[in-house]
Amino acid sequence: MPSSYYIAPAIDSASSFKDNIFKEKVLFCTGGGSGICKGMTEAIMRHGANAVIIGRNLDRLTASAKDLSNKTGTTCIPAQADVRSPQSLQDAVKKTMERFGRIDFVICGAAGNFMAPIAGLSENAFKTVLEIDTLGTYNTIKATIQHVRVTKGAYISVSATLHYRGTPYQAHVSAAKAAVDSLSNTLAVEEGPHGVRSNVIAPGFTSGTEGMRVMTGNKRNKADGFSNPLGRFTEITDIANAAVFLFSPSASFITGQIIPIDGGGEHLRGDF
Ligand code: HXC
Repeated sequence: MPSSYYIAPAIDSASSFKDNIFKEKVLFCTGGGSGICKGMTEAIMRHGANAVIIGRNLDRLTASAKDLSNKTGTTCIPAQADVRSPQSLQDAVKKTMERFGRIDFVICGAAGNFMAPIAGLSENAFKTVLEIDTLGTYNTIKATIQHVRVTKGAYISVSATLHYRGTPYQAHVSAAKAAVDSLSNTLAVEEGPHGVRSNVIAPGFTSGTEGMRVMTGNKRNKADGFSNPLGRFTEITDIANAAVFLFSPSASFITGQIIPIDGGGEHLRGDF
């Protein structure tokens, strides 16, 4: 057995793509006020896109939009909406069209999560996460699709790898994310003929996110002993770079795919 294992280097924020590939493009991102979706938004803005970030907490959204605009030199605006409410999403789309006149890219990223055993989970708790993750993704697609057809744009839905096997205390999230994968696949086949693509990014455990805090209480933030083949947690930058690729012309023939960004998944390393 090897005495030490390879640990993949964390990538820096420099992108391999040209700076201006998303010039004139507009991103509509639910959940963009924080975490993974904010990271994806920043990366796409760094390549020239303007963005609208959508969430429930207007103070946080406003601060994040300012931060993203300052960091990238392009424009981000906040739009307050609860993805469970079709009307509030339609209002966010209206605001986007009034400000920027188009939608090229959509990230369906708003999600809810907490740890609870299936035997103790209330019906409302189960339903709440399905409504945020699954119905929220459906509502986002419905609110944006007519505009994305015009630009022949693309969707990324943010899923997870929890449902590839059973994950304890995640019945609600696992069921919701399995349905998100399915929605994206249907979107890809129905909208491909209109020139619209749809893919899923499925992050593994991602450092510095609310999901990581909820699932581990921040007890598992070190790479030591972590058991995916590349030996570290997912970084937000890993996901952001995948999003840049999937929206870029380099991915113009890729649709209906589910792409785990998880270092190869959890496996036993054989060093026991
Ligand atoms: C059990 C809980 C609970 C908990 C809420 N509920 N938190 N049940 N354990 N910790 C129950 C409530 O009791 C209630 O049921 C129902 O859920 C609705 O709760 P509300 O608070 O009224 O709903 P709401 O205000 O809409 O909030 C929903 C929420 C949300 C899901 C709790 O606040 C949330 O998501 N917060 C965390 C955000 C987060 O973690 N985002 C990152 C997602 S990461 P009753 O029966 O009492 O009425 C992710 C990817 C995971 O999803 C992959 C990682 C590898």
